[in-house]
Amino acid sequence: MRDALGLNGAEVFLRISVIGCGYVGLVTGACLSEAGHQVICTDIDAARIAQLQAGEVPIYEEHLGELLDSCRRAQRISFTADAAEAIRASDAIFICVGTPPKESGAADLSAIDHVARQIAREARTPKLVVEKSTVPARTGIELSRALKAYGKDSGVQFRVASNPEFLREGTAILDFFHPDRIVVGVEDEIAAEQLREIYRPILERKFHCPVHDGKCGGNPQATFLVTTINSAELIKHASNSFLALKISYANVIADLCEKIGADVEEVTRAMGLDPRIGAPFLKAGLGFGGFCFPKDIQAFIHLADSVGVDFEMLKATERVNKQRLDRFLDKVHKALWVVKGKKIAVLGLAFKANTDDIRFAPALEVVSRLLAEGAEVRACDPQAIARTRAQFPQVSYHEDPYEALLDADAALLCTEWDLFRTIDWARAAKIMARQLVIDGRNLYAPAKMRELGFEYHCFGRAE
Ligand code: UDX
Repeated sequence: MRDALGLNGAEVFLRISVIGCGYVGLVTGACLSEAGHQVICTDIDAARIAQLQAGEVPIYEEHLGELLDSCRRAQRISFTADAAEAIRASDAIFICVGTPPKESGAADLSAIDHVARQIAREARTPKLVVEKSTVPARTGIELSRALKAYGKDSGVQFRVASNPEFLREGTAILDFFHPDRIVVGVEDEIAAEQLREIYRPILERKFHCPVHDGKCGGNPQATFLVTTINSAELIKHASNSFLALKISYANVIADLCEKIGADVEEVTRAMGLDPRIGAPFLKAGLGFGGFCFPKDIQAFIHLADSVGVDFEMLKATERVNKQRLDRFLDKVHKALWVVKGKKIAVLGLAFKANTDDIRFAPALEVVSRLLAEGAEVRACDPQAIARTRAQFPQVSYHEDPYEALLDADAALLCTEWDLFRTIDWARAAKIMARQLVIDGRNLYAPAKMRELGFEYHCFGRAE
């Protein structure tokens, strides 16, 4: 097949454009460039492109800045606000634009449609058009139709492919360079082979990644899985939904443990030791947030409904997750009695540790409800303060957890940052107005906290 591409065994690096410079687009662009390809990134937001051209990184993702600097130095990456320039200068185009939820829960695909029409209009040579953004199954069919309809005058040949990302925020670069699986949904073998070429440096561990001490320069054990486009699209939604389902399952077990007097940490640890179940994503607590799980589940439920399949267990997954906040605030009310006028330290704002992302973060909902009840909120987070301040200017923000805890009537742990794992609670006890900790992530040992004189509440561990 390499011969069919005219490669004759030669090492080829492709010209790739990335449309959309958000989390997914920037990580994809930087990693593919570091792997050896010539990458040109574009975005509809000209201010964002100007920032990138000036060497600034508009989002927080560990190592992304170093990686972009390295690619810039090697002159393998560039940024342009002119989408036509990016489209024309590439053999493969990765679509990394947003697919946010609409009111109905369905994914809003207008940005994909916009990009499809742009590609069709501007392309002058054959293009491999790759969906990287998470999209519902059958989007590829529509993308293909749009490219044909709007590109019919130029007669350019388009191949559509789906290559879903499985990147966790905070470890996205490591995940990209060290994947378990690379899924490519294609309509013919040529598209599969083009994508294999794109990922060859990673599959053959052919380069030295400048971050992580070169530990993540590829993973020869990764499975390169070629599927149909519909399957690849479905794989992404099915995977994320299953992970979310595991979390909600663990949360219901936590509720049961509380009623029965068992310990959810013991139960889920034992469950996870069964390889058929697996340990990850069984952590009970405040539930999942972030921009992926909540929106992907909604879109998947919507897709299933639209074809007459009632995805009851996914609806329950969503319901259980929403109830976590009520359960958490019940604990706050029971412990504090009256919330109005109390000083409450909220430890953690980001939806999980090691990111500044606050989209669908449970902590923000907690803050919003506490403020509505008249509490004085003192928040601490190592990365997410700037973003949260814009939304809640009435909160006082502290980078030092002890400052947030000063005179507080309660500490509410919402995000499992390492900074909070290492809090000296004996010291905190002396500066808080009341020794009360409500732990939304089961981060601390109940016996230890009680030994230090704290009233301590968490999820699913016997009181
Ligand atoms: C997720 C998927 O992991 C990734 O493959 C996909 O491409 C994008 O969505 P991300 O949203 O960055 O990545 O976060 P992840 O680390 O998966 O955590 C999701 C949420 O679940 C977080 O809010 C986290 O706090 C919560 N979670 C995770 C739990 O509540 N319990 C767990 O056991 C694990």
